[in-house]
Parts: sequence; C-alpha cells; structure tokens
Amino acid sequence: MTRVFDDDLGAGFGTRAIHAGQRPEPLAGAIMTPVYLTSTYVQDGLGQNKGYEYARGKNPTREALERNVAALEGGRHGFAFSSGMGCVDSIMKLFRAGDHIVCGENVYGGTFRLFDKILQHFGLEFSYVDTRDPQRVEDACRPNTRAILVETPTNPLMRITDLSAVGEISTRRGLLLIVDNTFATPFFQRPFEHGADIVFHSTTKYLNGHSDMVGGIAVLNDDELATRLQFILNAAGAVPGPFDAWLALRGTKTLHLRMPRHDENGRRVAAWLAERMGHEQVFYPGLESHPQHALAKRQMRGFGGMISVEMGSRERAAVILGRVRVFSLAESLGGVESLISHPASMTHASVTPEFRASLGITDGLIRFSCGVEDVEDLLEDLEQAFGALD
Ligand SMILES: Cc1ncc(COP(=O)(O)O)c(C=O)c1O
Repeated sequence: MTRVFDDDLGAGFGTRAIHAGQRPEPLAGAIMTPVYLTSTYVQDGLGQNKGYEYARGKNPTREALERNVAALEGGRHGFAFSSGMGCVDSIMKLFRAGDHIVCGENVYGGTFRLFDKILQHFGLEFSYVDTRDPQRVEDACRPNTRAILVETPTNPLMRITDLSAVGEISTRRGLLLIVDNTFATPFFQRPFEHGADIVFHSTTKYLNGHSDMVGGIAVLNDDELATRLQFILNAAGAVPGPFDAWLALRGTKTLHLRMPRHDENGRRVAAWLAERMGHEQVFYPGLESHPQHALAKRQMRGFGGMISVEMGSRERAAVILGRVRVFSLAESLGGVESLISHPASMTHASVTPEFRASLGITDGLIRFSCGVEDVEDLLEDLEQAFGALD
C-alpha cells in the first residue's frame, strides 16, 4: 500500500503541494510524474517483480497522488478512488452487517443516498444526527456503534462540527472518526489534528480544482486499518484511471494558491449577500453573524468559497439562477470557475422532501461556489441578477 515519503513531511504546505510524493522519473528525469497508461507490468521471473503486478492494485501515477494528498493531510497512507462516492463506499466496507454508524444528518445528498438506499440493505445501521451538538453524537452511540462520520462544513448549510469534541467521543468509545474534508481541504482544516482516523475527499472538487475529472481519496494513519482498506480497494476495484489521478495531482500543485483566493472571494461575496439579503439568510462560517463563527475560526484557517443563501421561495431562487452570467448554473463545486446551484433539486434531490425540510434545505435555498475570478466581476454579476428582484 502507498505510504508517504517521510522526507516530504518536513516541508511547508506549498512545497508539499508541489513536490510531495513525486520524484524525477528514473528513465529521463522528467520532472512531471508520467501518466502510467498500463494495465499490467512485466515480471522478471516467477515471483519476481518491481513491486507492481496489476494496475487495479497499484499504479505509479496514482501512488504519487496518494502520497501527495496524504502528506498534505498530515497522514501516512493515501488511497485514491474513482469518485468521492466510490471512496465512501469502500470505507464502509471496513464494517460488517450489524455495525452501527453515527452520521451527520446534513452530509452530501449522495452520501445519504448510498447509506439509506443501498448499504442499510446489507445490514449496516445508520443514525443521522445534528453533529453541531456533540451531546447528540454521544447520545446516538450504541453498543454496536463502530464509527462517527461527519462532514464539516456541511453541504449545503455550512454547519460546523466541533472536530475535537467528536474526536474525544470517538477516542473514548473506541470508534473510528471519519471526516469528509472536501469543503475545507487540508489547506484550511486538518482533521487528524483533532483525532480523526480517516479523512476523505471528493477530489473532483477543490483538490483537483479545475472541474476536469471525478475522483475520491482517503487518508489514514493506522497501518492495520490501511492494510484493510488497501485490500478493499484492490478487491472491490473502484480505482481511478491514471489520467484522472494525474489531473488531480496537477491540481494539488496549486491548492495553496487557489484556496486563499476562493476564501477572499467567498468573504466578499458573502458580505455582499448578507448586506443585500440580511445576515440570517446567508450561510457562510466566515460571517461573524454565523452562529458557529467562533468554532469555525478555531478549527479552520480560512472559510473557503462555499456560501448558501435562503431566497424565500423557489421562484425567487429561479430568478437568480436564471440571470447570473459569470456564475454558471451547474452541480459540483471547488473549481476555479464560479458556480451556482439549487441543492433541493440537484445535490440533495435524493433526500426526501420531509427530511430536506427538517434540515432547512428549502426550495428557496441556492448555493454559490465562488471561483477565483476577479471579485468585482462576481459582485457585478450579483448586482445585475439580484436587481431583477426589485
Ligand atoms: C462533500 C462531498 N462529499 C462527497 C461527494 C461525492 O463525491 P463525487 O461526486 O466525487 O463522487 C461530494 C460531491 O458533491 C461532496 O460535495
């Protein structure tokens, strides 16, 4: 299985983003990791190989990505998958029928769909709780609980879980703490520092950052757990192709340059929206009015570019979604370009209307992914789009 290069770990974040996991290619010294387009590897003799046998198990391009992201998260082992969902699915295969998982109620809709529509039929049990309150996490634990899974900030309501508090619960009870760090990225938040056991991402989002591939990655520290996940990765086979791994690896090289700009644009856009719509209608942990701003400030180094806004009705939401010109109406997030979406009918369509209503994902909610364009152009776009509501 892939393990970080120890000598990568001493460097600063930007240096790790650019170099970790990568060494000049031995044949010609190519500075960029080649895309190893191969399904198999020639063996020297019976039982003699260079450590590579078949590409489902290992691929050097994929390994470079795995080492790179593991180094950024401050973990030891990385496992790249064909999508964020493929990654969550493989993580869940660490458990068996009868195991119980306490899951944040406001996780990405696809994560909820996987658990609710598929995995519970295989005997896994899930409780969905508001993880903003650690006591609720504690109360949901049962004798057969094996893990706590949280996403923070959440998609799309930007709710924050106190990672140290749930980390304390998981350690005390001997549970695994699994954290979806897709929204914050390791640039802003390092769940391992708070007691996480598994940190995962949809690399489709900020890690790749250019909206040109779909992928997932899990990072772990524990050798025994990592051995089990490597077995699942190879046995179940949800691996990324080498070119997608390479695109994600190219993306991480600029993570430390992109994230501050996403954050800066996010803060400016959130401030504009709060002024226009009222602070209670805008969900962005970087706003002082966000009920969990102090916690967010404590456990995150920045707030990123994701913002949700309650427009009051589907009709008013549709006006904005239809009028924006710089923001594009599309699913997904975390790319250099700004996007706008409608969670109720897009990312969270698989959550029942009743459950959505109980969470606060209304038909009037819209979600912004602020890219890295000139913020004046983003604000001007909002001026003209919101102007139609007057
Ligand atoms: C927070 C979060 N986790 C996981 C996923 C799933 O990742 P993917 O779309 O790469 O399968 C998404 C996708 O939107 C997401 O937003």
